Amino acid sequence: MLQTLTLPDTADAIAQGAAILRRGGLLALPTETVYGLAGDACNDHAVAGIFAAKGRPSFNPLIVHLAALEQVPDYADLTPLARQLAAAFWPGPLTLVLPLRAGSPLSPLVTAGLDSVAIRLPAHPTARALLTAFGGGIAAPSANPSGRISPVTARHVLDGLDGRIDAVIDAGACNVGVESTILDARGDTPRLLREGGLAGETIEEARGTRLLPPETSSVTAPGQLASHYAPRGRVRLDVTAPDAAEIYIGFGPTKGAAWTLSASGDLTEAAANLFHILHKADAEAGPDGSIAFAPIPEIGLGRAINDRLRRAAAPR
Ligand code: TXA
Ligand code: MG
Repeated sequence: MLQTLTLPDTADAIAQGAAILRRGGLLALPTETVYGLAGDACNDHAVAGIFAAKGRPSFNPLIVHLAALEQVPDYADLTPLARQLAAAFWPGPLTLVLPLRAGSPLSPLVTAGLDSVAIRLPAHPTARALLTAFGGGIAAPSANPSGRISPVTARHVLDGLDGRIDAVIDAGACNVGVESTILDARGDTPRLLREGGLAGETIEEARGTRLLPPETSSVTAPGQLASHYAPRGRVRLDVTAPDAAEIYIGFGPTKGAAWTLSASGDLTEAAANLFHILHKADAEAGPDGSIAFAPIPEIGLGRAINDRLRRAAAPR
């Protein structure tokens, strides 16, 4: 059992956080999407510690976070498609799967032995400052026990990982609220691997072409296991008539809702509220209770929200 420090969002804390990473420790840090559980991506011991702290299956690879585009070639081949996507959307809630560079210094645990690597340049100023201070690649999955609800506050991180990590930097709530969108950028056309905080439509509009759909047969992103983001109790979706005992979560004008993802039906606001409300509803419902969600439209960020809710509701 470690003593997990809660650090403020200051320059001193960022220096302290970088020192923790340099000695192979584990640090939870805010990004614009969710809090990440950071470790030195080139240190086997640190990366193994991330898997252990989360209880994460080791065949599920991690995202490597970087401060600057110039660092990408140290780890991966920056394909022409990746250059275009990076110019349009980095830093931000977008992760690109790229060919792993031969002789890359990454721990093989990061890529789970694949010949590709997922890379992201986050936009959150604290994450960027930490990445700059550290200087190298940081492996960071969401800072929650595997399969549970992702953390969007330092409190959520501690609820799941207190005593299992060295520190958390508390910079308040994450403003996007769902994980990054993941694209496979190895070919000529981007393929959507995970819906996330950058809407697919936004990418399609910028490029003037459609994204390739996820390949359903093979599990290209092994994190796409069915049950995920799960509260302890039961979750029902697309509910318009909740049972009396259910905690009902609304969207737009919903009658009888305990809480709402967005009273005005705004999907950006709903994404930012999603994990806050799942954490609150989980605490209220407990292991035997039930949570019911009103329908969310399958457009824009609604796709990422519905993806997370379907996994929360999936059989365990
Ligand atoms: O917003 C985010 O992406 C957050 C913050 C902390 O950056 N991170 C995050 O990490 O969501 P995680 O570990 O919870 O999800 C990473 C996903 C997993 O589904 C994993 O399978 C996929 O990325 N992934 C990683 N490397 C991959 C690769 N080489 N090919 C395909 N999928 C990969
Ligand atoms: Mg996760």
